[in-house]
Amino acid sequence: MIKIKLGKQSGRIGNLKTGFCFSILSLSFLLMPPTYAEKLNPFEGNPAAIERGKSIFQGVCVRCHGINGVTPFKIRDLRRLNKKYKKWNKDPDKIFFETITNGRAAKGMPAFTDQYTDEEKWKIKTYLNTIQTL
Ligand code: HEC
Repeated sequence: MIKIKLGKQSGRIGNLKTGFCFSILSLSFLLMPPTYAEKLNPFEGNPAAIERGKSIFQGVCVRCHGINGVTPFKIRDLRRLNKKYKKWNKDPDKIFFETITNGRAAKGMPAFTDQYTDEEKWKIKTYLNTIQTL
């Protein structure tokens, strides 16, 4: 049996070591760039972004999600996106990014992995934020 001798690290040295580990840990979190979905929407309320997002939506997404996100299929109706996920304690922006990037193949939502830049995806989300009426 291997016995690991931990030694007594109480007192100042132990605290210093723990403190050092924590600072390295927090530093690595700071240096890790957040994925785009974890950032705050850089275009919130920006009229030009809303226009661009709307035009992508009405050109591509409209086929399945309906004009202005209105469709009789409840799960595809995007007017309740924010409220629904907030109610479930989830971040609607993050869900949006995951869904548009990876799709939900089994459910019929295509993946738009590289079709749009992250900025364009934010613009679509900015537009969707203007139609959250349910
Ligand atoms: C071919 C049809 C189709 C197209 C085109 C499509 N979607 Fe979807 N989308 C779906 C379906 C079906 C679902 C529901 C998936 C499910 O049941 O979870 C969905 C779900 C979503 C959801 C999640 C809704 C929720 O409440 O969880 C978002 C967000 C979304 N789509 C955005 C878009 C955007 C933005 C576009 C255009 C770039 C787009 N979709 C294009 C079919 C489509």
